[in-house]
Amino acid sequence: MSGNGATNPLRDAQDRRLPRIAGPSGLVIFGVTGDLSRKKLMPAVYDLANRGLLPPGFSLIGFARREWEHEDFAQEVYEAVKQHARTPFREEVWQQLVQGCRFVQGDFGDDQAFETLKATIEELDKAQGTGGNFAFYLSVPPKFFPKVVQQLKDHGLAQKEGSWRRAVIEKPFGHDLKSAEELNKVVHEVFPRDEVFRIDHYLGKETVQNILALRFANTMFEPIWNRSYVDHVQITMAEDIGIGGRAGYYDGIGAARDVIQNHLLQLLALTAMEEPGSFHPKALVAEKLKVLSAVEIPEDLGKHTVRAQYTSAWQGGEKVVGYLEEDGIDPRSKTDTYAAIRLEINNRRWAGVPFYLRTGKRLGRRVTEIAVVFKRAPYLPFESGATEELGQNALVIRVQPDEGVTVRFGSKVPGTSMEVRDVTMDFAYGESFTESSPEAYERLILDVLLGDANLFPRHQEVELSWNILDPIEEYWDKHGKPAQYAAGTWGPVEADEMLARDGRSWRRP
Ligand code: BG6
Repeated sequence: MSGNGATNPLRDAQDRRLPRIAGPSGLVIFGVTGDLSRKKLMPAVYDLANRGLLPPGFSLIGFARREWEHEDFAQEVYEAVKQHARTPFREEVWQQLVQGCRFVQGDFGDDQAFETLKATIEELDKAQGTGGNFAFYLSVPPKFFPKVVQQLKDHGLAQKEGSWRRAVIEKPFGHDLKSAEELNKVVHEVFPRDEVFRIDHYLGKETVQNILALRFANTMFEPIWNRSYVDHVQITMAEDIGIGGRAGYYDGIGAARDVIQNHLLQLLALTAMEEPGSFHPKALVAEKLKVLSAVEIPEDLGKHTVRAQYTSAWQGGEKVVGYLEEDGIDPRSKTDTYAAIRLEINNRRWAGVPFYLRTGKRLGRRVTEIAVVFKRAPYLPFESGATEELGQNALVIRVQPDEGVTVRFGSKVPGTSMEVRDVTMDFAYGESFTESSPEAYERLILDVLLGDANLFPRHQEVELSWNILDPIEEYWDKHGKPAQYAAGTWGPVEADEMLARDGRSWRRP
């Protein structure tokens, strides 16, 4: 490992100023043979090690059913790192990391496996000096959460005198409000509240954290960030990929549960919340909770929500199958691969301002953005015709890709007559900063090891978000079938009609 010297060029600007380096610790990943672990978690651990942010004796334990020896697991980690790590491969970093790699074979009901896990943790405490501090990362389907958490308790792994033990729980956190409440209850019976970290990886994204910097570190945006100036807000998370090999996970869950309940409602909360008194987790959560409790769903859900499924079409030069033809999908499935909903926020700042949320698989391109669209000027002192091509002012936070912020406003077209047309002013991360952003999972795993809960939704946030989504899902369940859209397009016509009824249209990002 590179140690923690100030010469590490891979350390980002924030870390250079105030290095946040994890103390003695280790991570146990349940579900270590899954996609998330291979593509995100194991590479993130390596990237942290490479940036000098992990302690020298950091340990990584994989737990799964696969009949692997420690060496097989180490080889898996190696390949995941080679393929997916963000930072360059360095043999000395790898050699240090592999010292602490162990594998425990078993299923979640297997008491012997949990005893082996306990012994492995004790062995690593001695060999690697982890200080008994371990985070348990549950990268497993939610139906297994209660079992794993109970096993950790029964085998005396959930707490250790003089050390910390933390639970990291992947989304989806439940299927609806009731199941989320039950899960919270089970987890809280075993782990103290402050030691439970629910992952919403969007909160680990640099651009998402920048929403708060943009709003609260500047003077020019906040005065117009309200119903007097804002016409509406559009939050879009579009993906060009289909469901890939995730049929088992996705069918029955759908777009709204997969990403609106968590990522998009978190984006809404950060965009709409009041300024917190400080960046202490309690202060931030208090503001997010206030705004989430003020969210109102439309009375007429038939008019103000749309769900749809993609159908087979040509996308980017490739013929792709429709959702119902995907491997492992029930051809009668009613699961949404696209969802759009209109929400309002009942408070003084936002009353009457619609927040339109939309997401979908197999859309035109991959883009996530928050567009704050402003009202038109109350009066335009120009000749008619001069402003025909003037749209509404907008501030667009480009979450990904092309991370940055765009401001759209009207400008005079050069020439002897007065003609006003839309122009844009851009801030691009890539141009203003030389440091590359850490991956969301790097930031979040480091925060878990540091015990910093700022970027993790608390249980009330998760429950409030289900509270918003549940009636919509229930309505969809009872009313007809999803609409359709051809793969590679921007969604169903019904979604365009939904905005047209309000006299508005979706942005083409
Ligand atoms: C996950 C969803 O939370 O986010 C996936 O389960 C989705 O369906 C993914 O593809 C998108 O993440 P990102 O970081 O690529 O926008």
